[in-house]
Amino acid sequence: MTPGISAIDPVRDPAIANLAQGARGAAAEHALNPLRSAADDPIRFFLAGPTYVLHGVREAQRRPPVAHRSAEFRGAYERASAGLQQIFRTARPVITATGSATLLMEAAVVSTVGDRVLHLVNGAFAQRFHAISRAHGLDSDQIVVPMGQAVDPDLVRQALRRGRYDAVTLVHSETSTGVLNPLAELARVTREESDALIVVDAVSSLAGAPIETDAWGLDVVLTASQKALALPPGLAFAAISERAERRMAEVPRRGFYTDLVRYLDKHREGGTITTPAVTLFWAAEAQVWGILAEGIEARWARHTALQGRTIAWAADRGLQLPADAAHRSPTVTTIAAPPGRSAPDLVKALAARGFTVSSGYGDWKPTTFRIGHMGEVQTSDLEGLLAALDELLV
Ligand SMILES: Cc1ncc(COP(=O)(O)O)c(C=O)c1O
Repeated sequence: MTPGISAIDPVRDPAIANLAQGARGAAAEHALNPLRSAADDPIRFFLAGPTYVLHGVREAQRRPPVAHRSAEFRGAYERASAGLQQIFRTARPVITATGSATLLMEAAVVSTVGDRVLHLVNGAFAQRFHAISRAHGLDSDQIVVPMGQAVDPDLVRQALRRGRYDAVTLVHSETSTGVLNPLAELARVTREESDALIVVDAVSSLAGAPIETDAWGLDVVLTASQKALALPPGLAFAAISERAERRMAEVPRRGFYTDLVRYLDKHREGGTITTPAVTLFWAAEAQVWGILAEGIEARWARHTALQGRTIAWAADRGLQLPADAAHRSPTVTTIAAPPGRSAPDLVKALAARGFTVSSGYGDWKPTTFRIGHMGEVQTSDLEGLLAALDELLV
């Protein structure tokens, strides 16, 4: 069992403990999240986020709220944060915000950038970082590459030789296209060429794709609850490096609800800056425990297997995958509908059969759809979706 896991075992909640007990035999065989039970079979929800939330996690959320400065909440907060550190692969604090990922994208920008920022842009969510820095009147540059491609570390090297930046922002898994940027290399180049802080949107990668926050020298790694963590929407989490903490203290205007220094201060007191979504926290505590019981590496491997099966299925049917083959995300695959078929119609036909997938994003909407194979989805669930697609494609 993963070290530290007993510390966050939610045994205080008998309903969850029973559920977990019942599923443990299956977990031993299949490395399942022990919170998965028969009530979840089969999963038919394959959005690129929000993702399917296990019945056991939804049950955990039914506990009544308590005061957020109480010992009870503090215990849950500390157990969830300790588990999140293992998921983020960091010895540094992982703070929690009540809000969506965009709140922490904005917080990361305003807390780390006093002057100039460089945005690496290869899709809609990477563009959002740029929109945020513009909204705050910050001086920003962008490296823009076409949708479907990853950002080339050499382009970043050149840009960092030309200009000085407080921070570089990027999206690890660009959910709008299904591209996974080469995060370790991009971080290495950024560190070699500059002292810019590395701000990473890991919204659709964390807990689904390998991320080594400390080993790769990442400064702010942020995610939301509703993607590969498979929690309900409403919470966002960020790991913050020691170097970032030091530098943020010098940034003059960090806002209030967006001030990551404030989040760190409150985190060290065992809580959140303001009243959090307490009941979502009960869910988070349970699910973090479930994720670590599966094992983070096992979880990464499961996502890679799901991606492999999805790609093989599409290739067998001659379907095009618009994301660069060398840089595909293990959590979401964009697939082009066969020539002459409308992708939105396929999405609707799947919905009529009880399966939910995402439509394509932006300009790709009429011609593509996206399968979110992330969170708690198992290969057996995916087979159900692919069989339904096969029926529609004949
Ligand atoms: C990569 C990425 N970043 C940011 C966001 C924005 O997340 P939120 O809607 O939680 O603010 C999303 C949402 O899909 C995303 O996929």
